[in-house]
Amino acid sequence: MEISRLDKELLEKKYPNDTSYLAKLKANYPVQYLIGDVSFCGYPIQVNESVLIPRFETEYLVDKTSKIIQKLNLTSPTILDIGTGSGCIAISLKKIIPSSFVTALDISEEALKTAKENAKLNNVDITFFHQDILNSKIPDYDVIISNPPYIAYDEKVAPEVKYEPSLALYASDQGLEFYKKIVDNLALIHFKLCAFEIGATQKEPIVNYIKAKLPAYQVTCEKDYNNLDRYIFIMKV
Ligand SMILES: C[S@@+](CC[C@H](N)C(=O)[O-])C[C@H]1O[C@@H](n2cnc3c(N)ncnc32)[C@H](O)[C@@H]1O
Repeated sequence: MEISRLDKELLEKKYPNDTSYLAKLKANYPVQYLIGDVSFCGYPIQVNESVLIPRFETEYLVDKTSKIIQKLNLTSPTILDIGTGSGCIAISLKKIIPSSFVTALDISEEALKTAKENAKLNNVDITFFHQDILNSKIPDYDVIISNPPYIAYDEKVAPEVKYEPSLALYASDQGLEFYKKIVDNLALIHFKLCAFEIGATQKEPIVNYIKAKLPAYQVTCEKDYNNLDRYIFIMKV
């Protein structure tokens, strides 16, 4: 696997008398797991095999969501991050909007352990819950945000992705299961904004589902830096 000069320097510093990581890199093991942390929205986030490696495009989800929160004049919003993983979304939002009340949940105890360490590392106060969103309900929140698992089970993934937890990657119903479950729940509660990251081919079925279930809400879709449909925002009109 090709790595940057900076990553090479970091690895040499971290493993001064040990080059066994080279064989791992050759087998497509993610360099981020070897280094042990990444920068997300400018904040340090520790990563290990229990969490998805935060993606560049998810930074835009955080950026855009925080801007909409400000536009909606939500000064002390309650925010829920569903499927928090490393905690990158929850931590960044709390950093950007310090007056917010941020809660984050995940089904993986191991991921929650890492997310809690990351919250401590970044000196932010976040409430973490162990919860299976597919088999439970969530109450009212001003803002709900999620980058859930969205890869269909039969979809091909890059070789390095196979080292990430499958719990963080795959979803049934062609990858739509989590969106549908969350939208069903949204129909039962009061909320002001819901922000999703989606797979590049999923816009149409997700938007159609939202429009059918939440007719009183406005749905917008935005593209990522590669011009792919990547974000959905649901707001009260
Ligand atoms: C795509 S990862 C996103 C991680 C992180 N939010 C990010 O954007 O980098 C999805 C996360 O959802 C969690 N997850 C999977 N199934 C879940 C469920 N049924 N209930 C709650 N969380 C779940 C996984 O453990 C994983 O951390």
